[in-house]
Amino acid sequence: MSQHPDAIAAHGGQLVNRIATPEQREEFLSKAEFLPRVQLDERAVSDLEMIAIGGFSPLTGFMNQEDYDRVVTEMRLANGLAWSIPITLSVSEEQAASLQEGGLVRLDNPRGQYIGVLQLTQKYRYDKTREAINVYRTDEAKHPGVQVLYNQGAVHLAGDIWLLERSSHPLFPDYQIDPVVSRQMFRDKGWKTIVGFQTRNPIHRAHEYIQKCALETVDGLFLHPLVGATKEDDIPADVRMRCYEILLEHYYPQDRVILAINPAAMRYAGPREAIFHALVRKNYGCTHFIVGRDHAGVGDYYGTYDAQYIFDEFEPGELGIVPMKFEHAFYCTRTKQMATTKTSPSRPEERVHLSGTKVREMLRRGELPPPEFSRPEVAAELARAMRVKVLA
Ligand code: ADX
Repeated sequence: MSQHPDAIAAHGGQLVNRIATPEQREEFLSKAEFLPRVQLDERAVSDLEMIAIGGFSPLTGFMNQEDYDRVVTEMRLANGLAWSIPITLSVSEEQAASLQEGGLVRLDNPRGQYIGVLQLTQKYRYDKTREAINVYRTDEAKHPGVQVLYNQGAVHLAGDIWLLERSSHPLFPDYQIDPVVSRQMFRDKGWKTIVGFQTRNPIHRAHEYIQKCALETVDGLFLHPLVGATKEDDIPADVRMRCYEILLEHYYPQDRVILAINPAAMRYAGPREAIFHALVRKNYGCTHFIVGRDHAGVGDYYGTYDAQYIFDEFEPGELGIVPMKFEHAFYCTRTKQMATTKTSPSRPEERVHLSGTKVREMLRRGELPPPEFSRPEVAAELARAMRVKVLA
């Protein structure tokens, strides 16, 4: 697929498209009964989808051992291109033994539906502890990303994939905007600089503040909440999306913002995931990417700004997207506005900020987060969703 001369290049140069053509699809469907099957979990389904739509460009399939090893140890693909998170497909030893290298494998979703094909080129074992320590900076099984890794099969299957068809998202069809489309939308709007925003939490005023600070210096804001697999206690994606809709309606200029879903799964890999999140947004056509406090972090595994420092480990231009780094934002009761320590003279006790865990606890007790933390319309929606959940 050719790149528009004005647009930022996809990572590696070309936006990948691995959605089967109608002819390929027909051929794959005709082979359905004869191919060995692998059933994907929710994360693997979203990885398959992200590879197919170009969100993970330049990846055209699940990583082989050369790419995997170099990503784990050096944050680079075998060809030297920056890449920070392994994208792999794992199965048990027994299942791996039943599959032939060189053959096609049918990929089913968790409901047993045929959704993709893998051209199996390599099977390899891997060291889970090494991956945990390098990618997640911990080997503790209670880290939610490490937990998924430890529960995976012992063998990786590598090779190019095809997605049989691009079906619309069951919950958010209007917000399913693939990279090829977001790039077109940015062009249509005449935006030359676009800042991407990753989030897995309900929007609060610190998010709004850093988004708007960023938007002051670029043409457009690409709000890209992650709706793939998250950990059990995160707020569900449908509630988060409603919060976004409400906020956009009341507090944002409609012509400067595009809201779209990011189908990827959350890894909670902190710094490494911040790089990955930035590269994915580059593939969607963003020129800039917001990295705030403890980006993609969980618990106390990462320092508050580790996800910002990691960008310095790459040469300028190597990532091809500019990180916009923000200090911890809060509501300052002294100056009566959102601020950070860079812009506010406040003492710590004059700052209102709440952790996601605190907010969830408040909502469970039936309390609303204060207006300094959350816009009242958003707080009301969260409270409503929590009541429905408790009653269900
Ligand atoms: S994340 O796992 O997707 O990073 P979250 O949705 O909370 O979690 O954060 C989205 C983005 O906003 C991240 O870049 C994060 O660093 C940033 N962020 C969240 N809260 C704050 C805050 N109070 N101050 C500054 N940045 C923040």
